[in-house]
Amino acid sequence: MNRNMKILVTGIILITIIIVSCDKEDDYVPVENSAFTESELAVLNQTLNLPSQLYNYANPNFPPHFTSEEANIADNTPDDNPITDFGATLGRVLFYDKNLSIDNTVSCASCHKQEAGFSDSNRFSIGLNGQLTRRNSMTIINARYFEDGRFFWDVRANTLEEQSLMPIQDHTEMGMELTALENKLQVLEYYNILFGKAFGNGQVTSNKIARALSQFMRATVSYNSKFDEGFALAGYPDDEEQMPDFPNFTPQENLGLDIFYRGRNGATCLYCHGNPQHVNDEAKNNGLDLSYTDNGLGEITANPSDMALFKVPSLRNIALTAPYMHDGRFETLMDVVNHYSTGVQDHPNLHFRLKDSDDPSPNSDVLRLNLTQEEKEALVAFLSTLTDATIATEEKYSTPFN
Ligand code: HEC
Ligand code: HEC
Repeated sequence: MNRNMKILVTGIILITIIIVSCDKEDDYVPVENSAFTESELAVLNQTLNLPSQLYNYANPNFPPHFTSEEANIADNTPDDNPITDFGATLGRVLFYDKNLSIDNTVSCASCHKQEAGFSDSNRFSIGLNGQLTRRNSMTIINARYFEDGRFFWDVRANTLEEQSLMPIQDHTEMGMELTALENKLQVLEYYNILFGKAFGNGQVTSNKIARALSQFMRATVSYNSKFDEGFALAGYPDDEEQMPDFPNFTPQENLGLDIFYRGRNGATCLYCHGNPQHVNDEAKNNGLDLSYTDNGLGEITANPSDMALFKVPSLRNIALTAPYMHDGRFETLMDVVNHYSTGVQDHPNLHFRLKDSDDPSPNSDVLRLNLTQEEKEALVAFLSTLTDATIATEEKYSTPFN
């Protein structure tokens, strides 16, 4: 090769490397160690209160009913966005940062409050300029376990990554254009450090924002409730319909467990809310009304058989997430239990688990549990065993801002 040739070849190689590395700028390059340096902490702690040694988000010590083969647990974490401690830490900061909204008044946590089970105690949440959301806020707990990974009451978001950028751009919620958001966050020194640690370079992109928010939300798993303690003690049943009494439960909670798993009059909660993570993939109709003003999934697909179908939210920390249902119509868990006991309506798309398909007579085939007062109170007591105090109080999930 002559000299000119060599220069040409070297040039081509260099240009290729530059093009490839620019293209890869959004790629996932996790930083291996799990602590900030003194000088990074000094900058971060002007605004934030972060521990020098990171919280463990990536490898929690899950109980067997989250990990065992029988549990057969689905996890929507994509291969290109595994949870890392730095990534989830960045996600936590973003989740609580009002800079994500156009007028610096709203953060994700404004409507997903830790003490309210990462939901909102208002029926409709207050966004920009006092505007109200159309639906009731949903918990982010156990978002990771929805097998097909679809989000919102009408399951319109295909992945958590896709979902997480939607409220930012929503004009009622946060009202930010993504490019404007990138520019706004880029000049904040703490993000330069946090994006660098999480993704190998400090450049802010909306793709990285989505990934980090998703990592934090996927790390928000509830597995320390009284229910989990009982499940671990009782062991995984061969058949969930035969769930045994839990040794750590009161007789009342065990009566509630019996109703939840075995139901009454042919109707049970098990089939729609029963796996250990208390999530369910498919949108369904649970007979709230005969005719709905909000048609959920049907508004997206315009398919008659999708009308009035709504996502089945996780029941984790349900005692903290009142009010209930997509429109927050029920103020208490007793109101919810009354619905399933006597209120279920024969909507044309009512899910078959709430219908007796062997009963040919019109309007009498709706399954209602018809519980006694004692049974209703027991079911409420059981639902309250799903409260996980750690997730409701731990700093790991709370605001990092000073
Ligand atoms: C102004 C209030 C508000 C803000 C701000 C807000 N949310 Fe929400 N969030 C809601 C409401 C209301 C819903 C249900 C909306 C629907 O289904 O149409 C929801 C739904 C969700 C869900 C779906 C959960 C599921 O199981 O399907 C996730 C996840 C979520 N929000 C995350 C976020 C993140 C991340 C942010 C910040 C980037 C955020 N939210 C900001 C009110 C808000
Ligand atoms: C056929 C499936 C199905 C069955 C059976 C079922 N549910 Fe539901 N559940 C749903 C759906 C769907 C929703 C959301 C409906 C909506 O908001 O329009 C829901 C919502 C809830 C909520 C409110 C969640 C929230 O975050 O607002 C609670 C609590 C609940 N169900 C408890 C129960 C209990 C207790 C039982 C048994 C008595 C039961 N469910 C039986 C499908 C079901």
